[in-house]
Amino acid sequence: MWSSWSPLRRLQRIAVSASRPAAAGNNNYIGGMQRREQSALAHRVYITRKVPPEGLEIVRRCGRVKFELWDSDDPVPRDELLKKVKGVDGLLCMLTEKVDAELLDAAGPNLKVLSTMSVGFDHLCLDELKKRGIRVGYTPDVLTDAVAELTVALLLATSRRLIEAAHEAKTGGWGTWRTLWLCGYELANSTVGILGLGRIGVAIAERLKPFKVKKFLYTDVAPRPQLAEMINAEYVSLEELAKQSDFLAACCALTPETQGICNRKLFSQMKKNAIFINTSRGGIVNQEDLYEALSAGQIAAAGLDVTTPEPLPTDHPLFKLKNCVILPHIASASYTTRNAMSALAANNLLAGLRGEPMPKELEL
Ligand code: DGY
Repeated sequence: MWSSWSPLRRLQRIAVSASRPAAAGNNNYIGGMQRREQSALAHRVYITRKVPPEGLEIVRRCGRVKFELWDSDDPVPRDELLKKVKGVDGLLCMLTEKVDAELLDAAGPNLKVLSTMSVGFDHLCLDELKKRGIRVGYTPDVLTDAVAELTVALLLATSRRLIEAAHEAKTGGWGTWRTLWLCGYELANSTVGILGLGRIGVAIAERLKPFKVKKFLYTDVAPRPQLAEMINAEYVSLEELAKQSDFLAACCALTPETQGICNRKLFSQMKKNAIFINTSRGGIVNQEDLYEALSAGQIAAAGLDVTTPEPLPTDHPLFKLKNCVILPHIASASYTTRNAMSALAANNLLAGLRGEPMPKELEL
């Protein structure tokens, strides 16, 4: 289990016993150096969440770091975060923390390294970070398999109507065997379109190929021949991707260019039997347009692991649609992957603090 948090709790007890909490409050812990070792040379670090044990262990074992941790599964409140970052040298954050001028001002000039435990970085104001010379680490690659796997699971759950079917079975809707009841769409002989071909798009295609997909298409800002060759995918325009795909999987980063790119126009170009899957960021979808497309039968179904906002309010219209499967942003949620993400985030942070190249550094 996220290991019932027992290793983490043990580590936290060790960290806490190493030095007293800096401030009253149940969620704040200090750890890192033994008190006798603490010196002006120690780097001060703030960690914005309970991190999986592997990452915490790496930070704890590092000799020159004194860290404080928001010891909760839920995000640190913004006002608390603004207080806690004051004077830190390094910050290890999650995708839920907006790192903008306000936060960087609150941190002050000591902040030299930001490490996010995420592959996505749309929560970071990169211009501000660059302007202030703050180095940024992130966690690509280690989550590729988990995200690709979940994308395939979501695609199958949506196309073969698994959630609806399980609900019917459990609630008495299961009568006799019926010829067209709960029919969906199969991958065999289909065309799969990938919006944004990167590592994750390739990994999704590799997993889908054994389902006898006929053709892989992709679109991106420019052709990516090396990646495309790995999955024998053809580069097409966004319009062609929409027109030809039976399954359209969005794997692109959220940028000003991709904000709302899946909109009424795109959905209107798609086939009526098409399935739309999004495991990237909610912001790439215009949700009102998606709702219309789904309820009007313009496309067959959608599977979303990401929405705007997150969490999506339970009374949101998309939740009312049988042909929309919504998951709570769990694509990278495997024990192995979340631990690997925390370890990479910790190593990025420490390398940055030492002034060394980070294992995965974002070019600003
Ligand atoms: C990321 O790392 O950006 C993912 O969305 C987390 O699952």
